[in-house]
Amino acid sequence: MRPLFIAGNWKMNPSTSEAAVALAEAVKAGVGTSAEVRVAVCPPSVFLHHVDAVLSGSPIGLGAQNMHWKPDGAYTGELSGAMLQDIGCTHVILGHSERRHGLHETDAQINAKLHAAIGIGLIPIVCIGETLEERQADQTNDVVAGQMTGSLAGLSPEQMAGVVLAYEPVWAIGTGLTATPSQAQAVHEFIRDWLTSKFGEATAQRVVVQYGGSVKPDNAAELLGAPDIDGALVGGASLKAADFLGIVQAARDVTAKGKP
Ligand code: 13P
Repeated sequence: MRPLFIAGNWKMNPSTSEAAVALAEAVKAGVGTSAEVRVAVCPPSVFLHHVDAVLSGSPIGLGAQNMHWKPDGAYTGELSGAMLQDIGCTHVILGHSERRHGLHETDAQINAKLHAAIGIGLIPIVCIGETLEERQADQTNDVVAGQMTGSLAGLSPEQMAGVVLAYEPVWAIGTGLTATPSQAQAVHEFIRDWLTSKFGEATAQRVVVQYGGSVKPDNAAELLGAPDIDGALVGGASLKAADFLGIVQAARDVTAKGKP
């Protein structure tokens, strides 16, 4: 069984460093020192430094929510992977749907960022997923395959094995609508088959594929119990320590029980 990985995407929250520190402290206390389920938090960039200080000595990873593909230069408003690493980041989310759709980020840009992240040793979490319109038009698999073809281009199998994918159906993000475990599993299985066809079975079996979209403590166990769902990328519920820790606990329970 692949180790489950629960990551909190705080998006543009909370509004103060004080609140970010308090949330990080509560998550750190609740996670403790057990590393059998991987855990990471991804605060806004301006709070990375504060949260890194809190997380010191804990197994919790620290992720940024975006990065530029260039190492330095005249890119106003951007941050390089090296800067993120310097401030303590171990992970970086790439290609979140709120950037793909809200800010027109393309697969080619995500691919460039991915190569840059891998090049300096950040663990990338690459997001993919269809809109409601695309699902209703029965295009889910085509959309997901297209996003993977573009954003994962040029990776070796070894590089691919270290990438985390997050399948986040856009219609399930922040809406309270969760994909059912069978809907999510069907797409995760498609993703695993696609990875097998491009990178080989051994690599595909190593890739951690998270599910994201209204994951909460009360639906986490069922989702995480599905054979190809290897974790969760959590938005809203990651802003309340008790809810996030409830999801981490669900992952621990699934890990203890094992999957079929
Ligand atoms: P919600 O959990 O708020 O639906 O957000 C999911 C998400 O976008 C995580 O990246």
